[in-house]
Amino acid sequence: MSEIRFDDRVAIVTGAGGGLGRAHALELARRGAKIVVNDLGGSRDGSGGSSDAAQAVVKEIEALGGQAIANGSSVSDVDGVKRMIDDTMAKWGRIDILIANAGILRDRSFSKMSVEDIDLVLAVHLRGSFLPIHAAWDIMKAQNYGRIVVTTSSTGLYGNFGQANYGAAKLGVVGMMNTLKIEGAKNDIKINAVCPIAATRMTEDIMSEQMLDALKPEYVTPGVLNLVKEDAPTGMILSAGAGAFSMARIVETAGVFVGQGEALTVEAVAAKWDQITDVNTTRPAFKSGGEHGQNIFASVAAAAAK
Ligand code: NAI
Repeated sequence: MSEIRFDDRVAIVTGAGGGLGRAHALELARRGAKIVVNDLGGSRDGSGGSSDAAQAVVKEIEALGGQAIANGSSVSDVDGVKRMIDDTMAKWGRIDILIANAGILRDRSFSKMSVEDIDLVLAVHLRGSFLPIHAAWDIMKAQNYGRIVVTTSSTGLYGNFGQANYGAAKLGVVGMMNTLKIEGAKNDIKINAVCPIAATRMTEDIMSEQMLDALKPEYVTPGVLNLVKEDAPTGMILSAGAGAFSMARIVETAGVFVGQGEALTVEAVAAKWDQITDVNTTRPAFKSGGEHGQNIFASVAAAAAK
């Protein structure tokens, strides 16, 4: 297979001062892309900040012979994100790739979770994905080219104790992707989600030494680069960690038409519960909300025709 290259592509990677973002930025640079290394440089819970982390990764990229600029804006700050986009355009005149990766944690069991805990986590992950994507969107449309990755999590897809705020934000970015894959299609803008697992400062205190060793951030990056290459898929959730890759999907069972009017009672639904929830009938994922709606009407029509 020929080498997958990113020559002349301009890529913004948010939260690229360390962990997964740094690994994505370095590999894109090794393969020819020009990189905007964004990082607020704060602590794991979102406090503090300095652009040193981004600067250090710029130096690493330059040492590889690549080109990069640092940006210390917070992804949740409208003016800061605008500056990042303006600086990128002033320097290189296009934005081909955007990897929305920045993140923080504010883990607490739900009773102890404060309003600030959810506001901050939503601000960095959800608003912090929305703002850079939104600021780059019309540029990508005008170019008729864009590759975007949002970063979800198994907490968003499946749940995890103490992470209600984080899970809400992480499934939120998947919801955003599901619509943007439709809105971006005619301008060759492709958007996907990565669901990573890696040993970074985000996970260092919840994993054993052995697990941390097997979970290098660099083992996620080859999957992410497949999501931003020229012939990338769109609307896909790629699970990636320790060198293993799989695709996650939201799927439904075939379901059953219970009835309408007087026939549709709470008891009638209860009587069909086993059929409604029969996972053996699981169908392929829908491509849009519209397709999902059409399917409901099709099952009503099929029942009426019987
Ligand atoms: P990390 O803590 O090493 O990296 C996150 C980076 O984001 C840090 O360098 C931080 O300074 C930066 N950042 C935080 N708030 C920011 C803001 N407002 N503006 C700009 N930069 C900001 O953690 P890691 O593991 O590399 O996380 C990367 C992404 O992957 C996050 O979105 C995280 O939620 C996600 N993720 C990580 C998993 C893992 O196993 N490490 C599992 C699932 C998801």
